[in-house]
Amino acid sequence: MRILVVGGGGREHALAWRLSHEAEVLASPGNPGIAEDCETVQVSTKDHDGLVALCKARSIDLVVVGPEDPLIDGLGNVLRAAGIAVYGPNQDGAQLEGSKAFSKAVMTEAGVPTAAYQSFTHPTEAIQFARSRFDLGKGVAVKASGNALGKGVVVCNDFDSAVNAIERMMIAKEFGAAGDVVVVEDCLVGREFSVLTVVGDQNFVTLPIAQDHKRAYDGDQGPNTGGMGAFSPVAWITRELIEEVESRIVRPTLEALKAKGITYRGTLFSGIMMDQGKPQCLEFNVRMGDPETQAVMLRLGKGYADALLSSAVGRYIEAPEVSEQATVTVVVAGKDYPMSSSKGLPISFGELPLGSKLFHAGTSLVDGQLVTNGGRVIAASAAANTLPEARKLAYQAAEAVQFEGARFRSDIALE
Ligand code: AMP
Ligand code: GLY
Repeated sequence: MRILVVGGGGREHALAWRLSHEAEVLASPGNPGIAEDCETVQVSTKDHDGLVALCKARSIDLVVVGPEDPLIDGLGNVLRAAGIAVYGPNQDGAQLEGSKAFSKAVMTEAGVPTAAYQSFTHPTEAIQFARSRFDLGKGVAVKASGNALGKGVVVCNDFDSAVNAIERMMIAKEFGAAGDVVVVEDCLVGREFSVLTVVGDQNFVTLPIAQDHKRAYDGDQGPNTGGMGAFSPVAWITRELIEEVESRIVRPTLEALKAKGITYRGTLFSGIMMDQGKPQCLEFNVRMGDPETQAVMLRLGKGYADALLSSAVGRYIEAPEVSEQATVTVVVAGKDYPMSSSKGLPISFGELPLGSKLFHAGTSLVDGQLVTNGGRVIAASAAANTLPEARKLAYQAAEAVQFEGARFRSDIALE
């Protein structure tokens, strides 16, 4: 099987690395780390026609799309129209991530447990609704409906901050068109986790759970980030809880999509919060999590490539092998991440412990020198028989990554 992985971050490095154990893998555009594990070809994720041409020229059997943007932009449709098998939904299904208003409407239609909400196109009405929720003693989360790169959610504990968030999104247009529609929903409180499910026409298969750490600094302090680290398995997330998420959230959502005539083939990422002991759906994404993928890929064995191909062509999906090992990923980020990214700083590596693997997230090569090229630079990952052992190895690997201002959280995988 010949697979093209589309994208060039840490998630795509982990995907390409895992898949290259079972298939011939190309990545586009890839990054210098990916280039050590498979062939990379410089076609932009925005160049849909270029990607079709690449697939034809290289007889690609399966395209695995890493990031959400190309899916929201309709890359799935373009590739499918050219007769190419794709792991990743078409534009209609990708609205689950591209439009929070759509996603909440599907959850409501499907009877999925989620926070009470309304969506708005006018700030005055949004503010009035927020007022009414605070009058009932609730807090609200204000969300730009469109794709705001994970930054368009503000959790507000007082009315003034809700007004401020609504005005920033709808009047100051801080997130551009993503703030044309705003969702205001009740605040939930509880532990969060995400469930990554491989979805096909006949069935779905949930991958091992990995928990990420969203805040920038130790002790869950500081601003939200894409994720500063992840680990798998997660002891408190039981099989029963996963089954509850599958039966109350994943399955009804897929049925509601089907009823709308939407065929969904790809990853369904359900963002869950345990509110008063019950799983509530915060959001859906239409791609794998980053850095959850890095931790999950180290646990998968044979059958992942086949599972993705089966999803893409509408066949029954067999679950891939999962190792009993524990895995930990520590993100080594630039000094000012998430406020700004790091560019052009030379990177070097010390000695890496056995059992570790560095996934490149934001790197590039300039005149033969590896340099930083992003906020999250390297996802230092490791697998071992126990979580504390994997943690130790991942931290040794993170310490081995050297560039000016390199930093990481020191409490990843301390449950
Ligand atoms: P989302 O992109 O919708 O998952 O939101 C990003 C983050 O905002 C989540 O991971 C939560 O930490 C927080 N969040 C979103 N919705 C709510 C809510 N209704 N109540 C409390 N926190 C929320
Ligand atoms: N790590 C969270 C995400 O990928 O959305």
